[in-house]
Amino acid sequence: MRQLPKQLQGLRIPVVASPLFIISNPDLVIAQCKAGIVGSFPALNAREAAGEPIMLEAWLKRITEELDRHNQSNPDFPAAPFAVNQIVHRSNARLERDIEICHKWKVPIWITSLGARVEVNEAAHDCGGISLHDIINNRFARKAIEKGADGLIAVAAGAGGHAGAQSPLALISEIREWFNGPVLLSGAISTGRSILAAQAMGADLAYIGSPFIATEEANADQAYKQMIVESGAEDIVYSSLFTGVHGNYLKPSIIRAGMDPDNLETADASSMNFGEGRSKPKSWKEIWGAGQGIGAVKDVVPARALVDRLAQEYDAAKAEMREIVNG
Ligand SMILES: Cc1cc2nc3c(=O)[nH]c(=O)nc-3n(C[C@H](O)[C@H](O)[C@H](O)COP(=O)(O)O)c2cc1C
Repeated sequence: MRQLPKQLQGLRIPVVASPLFIISNPDLVIAQCKAGIVGSFPALNAREAAGEPIMLEAWLKRITEELDRHNQSNPDFPAAPFAVNQIVHRSNARLERDIEICHKWKVPIWITSLGARVEVNEAAHDCGGISLHDIINNRFARKAIEKGADGLIAVAAGAGGHAGAQSPLALISEIREWFNGPVLLSGAISTGRSILAAQAMGADLAYIGSPFIATEEANADQAYKQMIVESGAEDIVYSSLFTGVHGNYLKPSIIRAGMDPDNLETADASSMNFGEGRSKPKSWKEIWGAGQGIGAVKDVVPARALVDRLAQEYDAAKAEMREIVNG
């Protein structure tokens, strides 16, 4: 067995809840961590109006203190650590400030997307944390490790948000030819059986996003949550139009916005903008992102109940697999 960094050990199930733009908030992160999996949020979700106290500080204070309190009263079932996602893209004008704040609060797990940078990894290490970088192919995976990331998040085909196009089987196999460190697999994982499948493929943990949109704590429109419940893999469209990078979206939300999901234009990466004055502010608000795994989501539930379901299914899948392995 590979030895994982201490931040990824001792989880109830081998799962990191992925950061979701707009949707992940302290309520969701705290519920995920208390349920025994790593919870996360994008730093950019914590926003304040000009002149107001820095929201990221307030979020980190609340999450840290609430999890500490929980751990003191539940020493036998402590909460899992949390992660903060940094969008490492030139249009993210807050990056330097957010790195400083995360360093000050000793964020235990740093997730970086859209760019691998040595100084972000150094900041994570300097405060005792680890960094995981998300990638969609083997070339980016090598670059991320060269720049000092501790682990990789392989974003395969079918993932919600900015997804890759490669089969998880191919992506993980290529990475495991040269990398023995922590690998998380992302893309349409929404059952306990799929978590075990990710491990069988060679990943250490599953990285799960879309199912958490349909939770009570998630900061998402009720109609969005309901659309996740009612949709399946065939309702997902892969398009670059909305952000300039290919991602997966709910077809009914595209139709509702007056577009033809079967005839979407393409956009190029130069249109990506994570700054304050986004050129397409509607893109993530009205066109709703989701991965292909949402067929397994049958109800809007508290995050705890979702983790309980995954844990029960994971245990059942392990028992089933033991029978197969033992003949
Ligand atoms: C609505 C939505 C928003 C997302 N926002 C972010 C983000 O801000 N940062 C990031 O690194 N990944 C983001 N992702 C990608 C997820 O972190 C993760 O890779 C993906 O959800 C995993 O696939 P799954 O949704 O099929 O579980 C987002 C995904 C969705 C569906």
